[in-house]
Amino acid sequence: MVLPEDPKYALKKVDEIREMVDNDLGFQQAPLMCYSRTKTLLFISNDKKVVGCLIAEHIQWGYRVIEEKLPVIRSEEEKVRFERQKAWCCSTLPEPAICGISRIWVFSMMRRKKIASRMIECLRSNFIYGSYLSKEEIAFSDPTPDGKLFATQYCGTGQFLVYNFINGQNTT
Ligand code: COA
Repeated sequence: MVLPEDPKYALKKVDEIREMVDNDLGFQQAPLMCYSRTKTLLFISNDKKVVGCLIAEHIQWGYRVIEEKLPVIRSEEEKVRFERQKAWCCSTLPEPAICGISRIWVFSMMRRKKIASRMIECLRSNFIYGSYLSKEEIAFSDPTPDGKLFATQYCGTGQFLVYNFINGQNTT
């Protein structure tokens, strides 16, 4: 975990990784609310490569995704295809939240190995000293289709919290 008060070389590395992650995401990400309050988790492989990155920030509010009724879906493949095509909506009612996941990324060759899940577990126990965040206290910033599939599985519901969504209120 890299914190804002860590040595410059560590912050520089985090900046480089964030830039690479933003390029990989392929779209303009909402800017971080306050750099001085972010916590960055890096997942380092046995061969000392950064294969996962999670950037978290303090937030106050999240908005619940409104789950759409799914058509009858038979296979996992169909579910993924459907998820990639459809838009998503969220409630305009703010709900208290503590931790915003601004970015979560895993190197493409290493996906579906629970790296993102492990990073979030680690985040939950380290974001606030001495406390373990519940899944209800975490919100995802404007999730991608992959992010939505992941968050739905991780949170155990499609109605997880989001924030920073484009065209929405930005009241974090
Ligand atoms: N399609 C369907 N289900 C998915 C999924 C996907 N692309 N990614 C994760 N899941 C679900 C699965 O149920 C998975 O469990 P399983 O592999 O046993 O079926 C579960 O979530 C846990 O996934 P995990 O292995 O912990 O996630 P990951 O390490 O592969 O990382 C992302 C998930 C989203 C971080 C990764 O796909 C990624 O970096 N994508 C590109 C960047 C991005 O879109 N980030 C999200 C920003 S909100």
